[in-house]
Amino acid sequence: MEILTAFLSILLTLGFILIFSCSTKALKPQTKPPSYPLIGSILSFNKNRHRLLQWYTDLLRLSPSQTVTIDLLLNRRTIITANPENIEHILKTNFCNFPKGKPFTDLLGDLLGGGIFNSDGELWSSQRKLASHEFTMHLVEAFDVAAAISARRATEPVNAVWKLKRFFNVGGERRLKEAIRTVHVSVSKIIRAKKKCLDIGGDVSDKQDLLSRDTTSAAMTWLFWLLSENDDVEKKILEEVRDKGSLGLGFEDLREMSYTKASLCEAMRLYPPVAWDSKHAANDDVLPDGTHVKKGDKVTYFPYGMGRMEKVWGQDWDKFKPNRWFDEEPNYGIKPVLKSVSSFKFPVFQAGPRVCIGKEMAFMQMKYVVGSVLSRFEIIPVCKNPPVFVPLLTAHMAGGLKVKIKKRKH
Ligand code: HEM
Repeated sequence: MEILTAFLSILLTLGFILIFSCSTKALKPQTKPPSYPLIGSILSFNKNRHRLLQWYTDLLRLSPSQTVTIDLLLNRRTIITANPENIEHILKTNFCNFPKGKPFTDLLGDLLGGGIFNSDGELWSSQRKLASHEFTMHLVEAFDVAAAISARRATEPVNAVWKLKRFFNVGGERRLKEAIRTVHVSVSKIIRAKKKCLDIGGDVSDKQDLLSRDTTSAAMTWLFWLLSENDDVEKKILEEVRDKGSLGLGFEDLREMSYTKASLCEAMRLYPPVAWDSKHAANDDVLPDGTHVKKGDKVTYFPYGMGRMEKVWGQDWDKFKPNRWFDEEPNYGIKPVLKSVSSFKFPVFQAGPRVCIGKEMAFMQMKYVVGSVLSRFEIIPVCKNPPVFVPLLTAHMAGGLKVKIKKRKH
């Protein structure tokens, strides 16, 4: 018995010596955390699991190419990248090799079923076609035009005027007829695509609407908090909104609100509603920065870390500066034009064939809400402590933002 115990202790000691002597810690501290045979980086992972956002961000900052590989138990690997070229490769150039994958769709299967957010291949592709009909800005614009002209009928001094214009198909009435035709054509396409989608088992459910609502509300919550800390930015948004008509913000007004859009982008750069997103490699591959990917590896692009990379955003990455979204400093009286920023550098809406289909709609909705609320009310946070970012399925502000609402004096 004693001999057996002694033998086991020697075996265990040897095992530990082997594990720790083979540690890759000394080799590449900048591209992976300490890693050991069999158990990989599970010890560091476990130590940091309550602060993964910060841990990943720190590791990425140390990595020369902003990519880290984390070996997990039994050879499972996660590659995390904040490198725009890698992201372009994963999300666009070699899109087919990086589906969400079964490990991901299994995780969310009970919640999201086989809906667009949680499917790959043919099932995803047909739902994407359906959704792209639903989210066409063409439809939103046509509806907006039709609604505005219909409302204007009531302002004609005599009813007969618009009726005559309709009879002769002239002026606003002709534009109304065209807009209504566009709405009908688009809606018919949606119905046809929906039928096809249901035939092949797609599940376009309300849960997905909830997900997209979560993202816009998270983005606006962070923006309202950031504005409470940055009076100058709030003033410029108000300036932009006050220029608009008194009848509320219309489609054209919203399109022109570039400073508000820049402020939303800047809030989402620092606090992205989707903090990270993962794919699973279908086959072996090599990323543009030379990182080897093995079939089955989890490959994560990381908008939260990306917004905090000096190499991507410069030394002032931690400053809330909507001006960074313009080529030239916006001046009062001159309509500022947003500069074009690669979606692989700012993948907050994902990018490539699977880019968020509601992106434009989301900006319209957020500009509308932010503009309408700010022009009427002051939003004053009750607590002065910086809020905490919680990266759930969509990211949240811990406990929400408790505020006092004060009617704005004009
Ligand atoms: C600030 C607001 C939003 C952000 C940051 C955002 C971000 C994203 C991201 C990162 C994805 C990829 C998710 C994944 O593949 O796991 C996505 C997909 C998607 N988003 Fe959004 N989203 C926003 C608002 C919206 C809105 C308002 C809608 C609908 C009206 C919408 C509809 C969709 C749909 C349908 C997809 C699935 C696209 C596909 O897989 O082909 N999103 N969004």
